[in-house]
Amino acid sequence: MAYEVLARKYRPQTFDEVVGQKLVTDTLKNAILQDRVAHGYLFSGARGVGKTTTARILAKALNCAQGPTVTPCGECDSCREIASSSAIDVLEIDAASNRGIDEIRELRESARYLPSRDRRKVFIIDEVHMLTPEAFNALLKTLEEPPESVLFILATTEAHKIPTTILSRCQHFAFRLVDYREILGELERIAQEEQIQSDAASLGLIARAAAGSLRDGLSLLDQAIAYSGQQLDEESLRQLLGAVPDQILEELMRGVHASDAARVLEGVERLIRQGFEIQQLTAELTRFIRNLMVARVCGPDPQLLPLPEESLSRLKELAAAYGPEDLSRFLQIMLRTQAEVRYALEPRFHLELALMKLVHAQRLEPLENLLVELGKGATKTASKPAAPGSAAKPAPNAEVDKPPLPVRARPDAAVGASEPELRHSPARTPPPTLLRGADAQPLALIRDRVQARSKLLSNFLEHNLVGWRLQDGQARFTFSEEVRWALDILTEHENRELLRSICSEVLGQPVQISVSVEESGNAPADEGRVRLSPRERAERDPRVRAVIERFKGAWLGTRDLSQE
Ligand SMILES: Nc1ncnc2c1ncn2[C@@H]1O[C@H](COP(=O)(O)OP(=O)(O)OP(=O)(O)O)[C@@H](O)[C@H]1O
Ligand SMILES: [Mg+2]
Ligand SMILES: [Zn+2]
Repeated sequence: MAYEVLARKYRPQTFDEVVGQKLVTDTLKNAILQDRVAHGYLFSGARGVGKTTTARILAKALNCAQGPTVTPCGECDSCREIASSSAIDVLEIDAASNRGIDEIRELRESARYLPSRDRRKVFIIDEVHMLTPEAFNALLKTLEEPPESVLFILATTEAHKIPTTILSRCQHFAFRLVDYREILGELERIAQEEQIQSDAASLGLIARAAAGSLRDGLSLLDQAIAYSGQQLDEESLRQLLGAVPDQILEELMRGVHASDAARVLEGVERLIRQGFEIQQLTAELTRFIRNLMVARVCGPDPQLLPLPEESLSRLKELAAAYGPEDLSRFLQIMLRTQAEVRYALEPRFHLELALMKLVHAQRLEPLENLLVELGKGATKTASKPAAPGSAAKPAPNAEVDKPPLPVRARPDAAVGASEPELRHSPARTPPPTLLRGADAQPLALIRDRVQARSKLLSNFLEHNLVGWRLQDGQARFTFSEEVRWALDILTEHENRELLRSICSEVLGQPVQISVSVEESGNAPADEGRVRLSPRERAERDPRVRAVIERFKGAWLGTRDLSQE
């Protein structure tokens, strides 16, 4: 007898043999038991997941000589003919090659006649989404008023292409992709029955390549047998499938972990010499990283990870070396690369670039963490009493909150609630007149508007302003001494006009502008307000401290950029 392909030889003949579609088969069994089988069904789902198989089983269940029954005998003429697609009352139509209205008219005509032998006349229309609109219309008429004995089973891989008018007249069953483990189980069962020698790893490779389609799994098993004979071995299967061994992927990822770019690039070179394709390689590495991420986040959950047991524990071990943040960043990089290599002129370069990114990406601290830490550092330092040597100085916070000076940190600045300039700026003449202590708010508004109009002025306001107040219709801006050199610029007509109009707008009254630079000589010494050197100021800046602490930095020198 000629070789019968495994998918046909092992096509399930009863509902219970259908793998992984329990929801569908249970519902159908119930309908049969309660004699409530509908006139129209739509079976949708990927290729090779059991749609046609289930349609035939349903036809047998209804037409079996022993039936209707949920366990068709498989022996009677009806059962056997349906199984071999030769029953006169069960017609399988391929809509892909019978798309037109004529074919559907013919079908309607034939539906009007009673079944010649069986109980039900069953039309299984495959790839039904291929029908023309006219054909759908013709079909609709029949679905609306189906002859008593007729059953339509429409099957499609593209449910979204089915008109809603049709959908609403059918019971819709969505077939799911078959799990890796379910496919592996079937492969093991069938390999055993076929007396194929194989290990879990080889069949695991096939199951993975099947990607949810049992038919694909069985076809690959056919190919593997043709390739290697009765004895499957992992190595030749990898060659057949072009699958990259996990060890190689692991090795690549170890290179990434060691930040060893050379080792990683050499790894790619080796793989290419062994004949692996870049696309495949990229896809497998992406999948591998996805698995690492899942293992890191959820543990080695077999439900989420289509892998044999021993790979699971290795994966778990490797995953522990990375943070979940790293892994999701890696995955993002790889997914982008996977899309790129498909159309790239030099796919290899893209893969290499991606790997370099991985090597570097893992050294990046998640920005959120950094901000949180810097924020913590800032508040910690800010609330600490002043350093010895300036002991007379009040705690910075107290000063920050004291109206009207100094300028309050802008509310949207994530770090540094106390800017160093503020702390050493001399407290000046009396409290403000009009601003009721809410000095920071109009200032924030002023800064925003200036920012939109003058980059230069905005920069000074942002970094060098040490105080401002409104007094006698005059908005007085005091800048730190470091920008004395810029006084001319700050007071030049154009800038003064800009400030004046913005301040008048924000404050809701016409104001004059006064711009000055703080006089260090005037700082009352008895308040302990000594001018600090740039180095001292930098050392006190909570942000600088946090950065040094976080990155284990060392002081090399301090340069006061505000003087340049
Ligand atoms: N759920 C399943 N359980 C057991 N075997 C299955 C299952 N799905 C598919 N198979 C195997 O794959 C073969 C093809 O399945 P079937 O014809 O039912 O797929 P299909 O969903 O109709 O696919 P297509 O969309 O390509 O028509 C079957 O003969 C059977 O060997
Ligand atoms: Mg089918
Ligand atoms: Zn039967």
